[in-house]
Amino acid sequence: MEISKYNFMKTKLYILVFTVLVLTISCKNSTKYSAKKEKTIGYVADKALIVSAREEASQIGIDILKEGGTAFDAMIATDLALTVAYPFAGNIGGGGFMVYRTSDGKTGALDYREKAPLAATKDMYLNDAKEIIEGKSTLGAVAIGVPGTIAGLFAVHKKFGTLPFEKLIQPAIDLANRGVVVTVKQAKRLEKYRELFREANNRTIALDKDWKAGDTIKFLALAKTLKRIRDNGRDEFYKGQTGQEMIDYLQELGGIITQEDLNKYEAKWRKPIQFTYKDLTITSMTLPSSGGICMAQILKSIEPYNIGQYAHNSEKYIQLLTEAERRAYADRSHYLGDIDFVAVPLDSLIDNNYLEKRMASFNWNQANKSSAISFGKIKAYESDETTHYSIVDQFGNAIAVTTTLNGAYGSKVYVEKGGFFLNNEMDDFSAKPGVPNMFGLVGAEANAIAPEKRMLSSMTPTIVEKNGKLLMVLGSPGGSTIITSVLQNILNVSEYNMGMQESVSKPRFHHQWLPDVVKIEPNGFDEETKSNLKNKGYKIDESNSVVIGKVDAILVLPNEKLEGGADPRGDDAAVGF
Ligand code: GLY
Repeated sequence: MEISKYNFMKTKLYILVFTVLVLTISCKNSTKYSAKKEKTIGYVADKALIVSAREEASQIGIDILKEGGTAFDAMIATDLALTVAYPFAGNIGGGGFMVYRTSDGKTGALDYREKAPLAATKDMYLNDAKEIIEGKSTLGAVAIGVPGTIAGLFAVHKKFGTLPFEKLIQPAIDLANRGVVVTVKQAKRLEKYRELFREANNRTIALDKDWKAGDTIKFLALAKTLKRIRDNGRDEFYKGQTGQEMIDYLQELGGIITQEDLNKYEAKWRKPIQFTYKDLTITSMTLPSSGGICMAQILKSIEPYNIGQYAHNSEKYIQLLTEAERRAYADRSHYLGDIDFVAVPLDSLIDNNYLEKRMASFNWNQANKSSAISFGKIKAYESDETTHYSIVDQFGNAIAVTTTLNGAYGSKVYVEKGGFFLNNEMDDFSAKPGVPNMFGLVGAEANAIAPEKRMLSSMTPTIVEKNGKLLMVLGSPGGSTIITSVLQNILNVSEYNMGMQESVSKPRFHHQWLPDVVKIEPNGFDEETKSNLKNKGYKIDESNSVVIGKVDAILVLPNEKLEGGADPRGDDAAVGF
């Protein structure tokens, strides 16, 4: 009896201890998940995924992968398909940057950014009174930089291509002949820029029609150009019939690009910028893009504050990022330019001690003023529109590409015989120190115009690794807002445990030192947060920022499957297998 009573007591004690243990564990778990919620997952592919601005382009790249090509082959096919399906920014008349990570972990970058023509001069956009001539760097033939895209694609093929170039270009030729169905967004854009097409070309161009959603546009002249590139190779664009037609047309319009400019263009392999943020290793584009450096400065400035402790898009979150962005964009405007022309103190700019000092004047109670923040003092002086796509192939190679004509349809100059638009990338130079360009960015001597110099960019094609393994591939269009769009998505995933689609869909904000305003996407931020920020002295601008960036990204999930984030702000699409 006594024994059985003892056993009963013992059993009760075990039950009590077990219950406490279970409760403790489940309490711990619930604490964990309330801080780091479960991911919401979007489109998932088992092995390979491409996310780009148009489904046709993502699909064409995936078809190349299914035929046994690698991410590098798919990049060439996707890029050329975007030229057809997305002439707003996809291009052969512009330029871009690629960042890659091969399946064995090697990283690299290609710069096929446009260059200033040989005849370019520092003051070419100023009048006799040294004032900016409105529109000269954005519209028409004089706004155009020497295009780099075709040189870039052939450079990728030479180094990494596994399938014949003819096979990679053929789907774009077929698409151009077959035609592309106009989306609602595309119809609106074509309508919006019709008048400027006429102004830039002194005539109506083939695309100048009253396009409606659902119409099909055939790009027959472009199909012929792509066929000639298929048959004659890289030189067709720079030295062949296509180059000649381009030069003839530009001269007719009063442009300054010559055959010598085309002859001299080369894409350049560059060492990407690589830095750590907490347990992530981030590889991104280096100069002539400011993207990687600026993003490194911002992420390293906020790292000591452990931003994840603040709710996503809360007052403190916005405040901390804004102050780091203010300081990084001030440095951008003073220090950054084409590394082949100016000495840029890259290591000093991302040095932790330097960034800590830069943030020393940050105060939670009140906004800093951009007028009181200039570029930082460096001791050691060592030597709208764009598009982005992300690729991970079935072998584990990853590619991030951002490519651009700069403004929507670039300079609006349309080489009718060739069937393509030319960029207005010259506006990314600082035409006059302190005077903003079309993205409101101001620059200084480091980004002044000089013959053959590459204009400073904000494009930020980026690859993120964790524990030595691929984690994310991402990038965005959006001029000056590219950098902050990319970094907010890195934070969404790493600090707030979001899935990729959830992350790219979240509302975004942006600060770039000057103008001294926090741009926010309308309806994405609560009234109390905005009002508290205003009380601290932040100017909130919801007026001209309907869309901030358009991020197309890939996240490697813990089970090694790939989740796509196709930005709902556009017609973007993830396709995989
Ligand atoms: N044209 C936009 C950029 O390169 O930043």
